[in-house]
Amino acid sequence: MISDTAVLKKLAKIKEIATLSEVIHEVLTALASDESSAQDLAVILSKDQALCAKVLKIANSAFFAQSRRILDIDSAIVLLGFDSIAQLALATSVFNAFGRGRTHARFDIYGFWEHSIATAIGAKDIAETLHRNADRKVAYTAGLLHDIGKLVLLIHFPEEYGPVLHQLDSEGMFLHGAEQSILGFTHCDVGEWLFNRWNYPERLVQAVARHHNTLLPEPEPDFVVGAVRLADLLSNRMHIGASGNTLVPPLEPNECLIIGLDETKLVEVEQKLESAARGITRVLQAMTERR
Ligand SMILES: [Fe+2]
Ligand SMILES: [Fe+2]
Repeated sequence: MISDTAVLKKLAKIKEIATLSEVIHEVLTALASDESSAQDLAVILSKDQALCAKVLKIANSAFFAQSRRILDIDSAIVLLGFDSIAQLALATSVFNAFGRGRTHARFDIYGFWEHSIATAIGAKDIAETLHRNADRKVAYTAGLLHDIGKLVLLIHFPEEYGPVLHQLDSEGMFLHGAEQSILGFTHCDVGEWLFNRWNYPERLVQAVARHHNTLLPEPEPDFVVGAVRLADLLSNRMHIGASGNTLVPPLEPNECLIIGLDETKLVEVEQKLESAARGITRVLQAMTERR
């Protein structure tokens, strides 16, 4: 939590911070609700034809390997499922809102999105493997957005963030450690601030705020916080995309056990993530093409 009022004042002055469209807030709500139907999702998405076109393009890309062309969003939901289409719409919108912003020679924006998508898929895989079906959508969403604070720092604090990225190289630190030592706060704090500003559900806020905190058995952590933390560690350890860290963080078996991930289930999740990783590049290519 950011307690420094100078930092909060600086953050509060950011007027033109990227926003997600109303349609995407509705998709997020639909993803978080068990009662939303395929029809609801089709109605929500049909309000944004540019987004529909992009989602259809990705649905027709090599990643999904459909034998016939998908021509409309209703068919896409029927063929690929509610979750896949809602998640694609979310990923595409977040990328469009933040992905083309200011960047830095030492920040691999493409790798950042690969890491974010891998963490989203990993968090969803953990939920599925542990039969936590009610949590898989929120785990995916939290995983996709867990590092969004880095983009806010990169775009809105470029003078301060450059030295953070340099320190990382010269002193062999983790990114959040370098942020804390130079800025006095981390991308987790900024993500927490942003999600509160967007009035996102508390579970999403907590997963973003605490994804670099070691999981402790007491008090019992929320499952989604744990799933995102472990999926982030797995993506780093499996070198999928680039989180900004050059050091590989440890994955403690004790932390995995806290959310019920024993060694056998961990291997299962790793295998799922490894096979999904091959497709992430193709999805990202389809997302980043302008037409
Ligand atoms: Fe992070
Ligand atoms: Fe991360």
